[in-house]
Amino acid sequence: MRLDVVTIFPEYLEPLNVSLVGKARARGRLDVRVHDLRTFTHDRHNTVDDTPYGGGPGMVMKPEPWGEALDSVIASGGGEERPTLVVPTPSGRPFTQELAVEFSRRPWLVFTPARYEGIDRRVIEEYGERLDVFEVSIGDYVLAGGEAAVLVITEAVARLLPGVLGNAESHRDDSFAPGAMANLLEGPVYTKPPEWRGRGIPEVLVSGHHGKIARWRRDQAFRRTVANRPDLIERCDPAELDKHDRSLLAALGWRELPDGRFGRPAEVVEE
Ligand code: ADE
Repeated sequence: MRLDVVTIFPEYLEPLNVSLVGKARARGRLDVRVHDLRTFTHDRHNTVDDTPYGGGPGMVMKPEPWGEALDSVIASGGGEERPTLVVPTPSGRPFTQELAVEFSRRPWLVFTPARYEGIDRRVIEEYGERLDVFEVSIGDYVLAGGEAAVLVITEAVARLLPGVLGNAESHRDDSFAPGAMANLLEGPVYTKPPEWRGRGIPEVLVSGHHGKIARWRRDQAFRRTVANRPDLIERCDPAELDKHDRSLLAALGWRELPDGRFGRPAEVVEE
């Protein structure tokens, strides 16, 4: 997979040389190219921003440097392949595991992390006519720029590429992984020693009974999801809930609705 990042802070992307993404690059699984947006300016001050039309606080990134930078990146593909443009912005659609999977299937991603109040809208419109463009937010908070979002998205995507994680099974049980445990958070995990500071591990994990271990893990996933992400329980597909799941949710105070979904305990709804 090829990744290009156009930024005014190339050094911010240094972590792409480290750990999982760094190794994937070293192994040739990822071709990462970072470009300095200021090299596509032509004035003495390498200006990339200007005041917003209509007034208001902050500055807006000028369209011309972005246009030149993106034309140059796109042309470097030799015209055979068209990249997918990923625009990090707090106004984008939420970045989810599903979107990470979608991106991991694409051969070439180009990221345009912005500073200031964002990029002149005409840039997104212009490239939207030629490329698939995804405006993506990594969460409901505002960063000083999109570079940290690029690091987040890149790591989530890179670990899905074949041959990047040691064990191809390791993403199967991820929180948010599509499949049987869809929409549940992963439960707690333990390793040796069997006792640490007087704390043991749940007996069932050393029982050797695979069925009981799977059941216990699923229960823990439900308990954690109820505690941390009740919205995910509400969205659970009723067809994925077995009898045991239903009685566990009922025991935790959740109500079964006529369509088989579960609703929050009354006291939470009234808050
Ligand atoms: N740029 C600033 N805040 C952001 C966010 N939450 N997600 C993606 N890009 C951003």
